[in-house]
Amino acid sequence: MAEVFYKTHVFCCTNLRPDGHRLGCCQDKGSMKLRNYMKARVKELGLEQTRINASGCLDRCALGPVMVVYPEGVWYTYHSAEDVDEIIERHLIGGKIVKRLLLKPDQTALSFEQMAGQPESERKTAEQQS
Ligand code: FES
Repeated sequence: MAEVFYKTHVFCCTNLRPDGHRLGCCQDKGSMKLRNYMKARVKELGLEQTRINASGCLDRCALGPVMVVYPEGVWYTYHSAEDVDEIIERHLIGGKIVKRLLLKPDQTALSFEQMAGQPESERKTAEQQS
């Protein structure tokens, strides 16, 4: 295998759309704060060769906030610092997928369990989008 610059590369959508936009956006659901938290935690934990990047829209807006972890190409929805901690501990460190936050390739709406983890205000938005 070729040498790689980053072993793990995480892209967190921090896209911001104007208020009232029909698609909503991940930043309205707290993605910037959570991405910054994730970046700081990864640094604190000393996870070398792991990069946590902000990204533009990843085109899965109704499922957001979303992130994708490469090289696996595993997608997650997340809504809290606890979700981020679990992704760091179980996936980035442990190499296991966090199934309750996993977004399948063909998934277009959050599962009941994933929706239950959202703040009340976001839950209404997700229901309206489905
Ligand atoms: S705004 Fe985040 S996926 Fe589109």
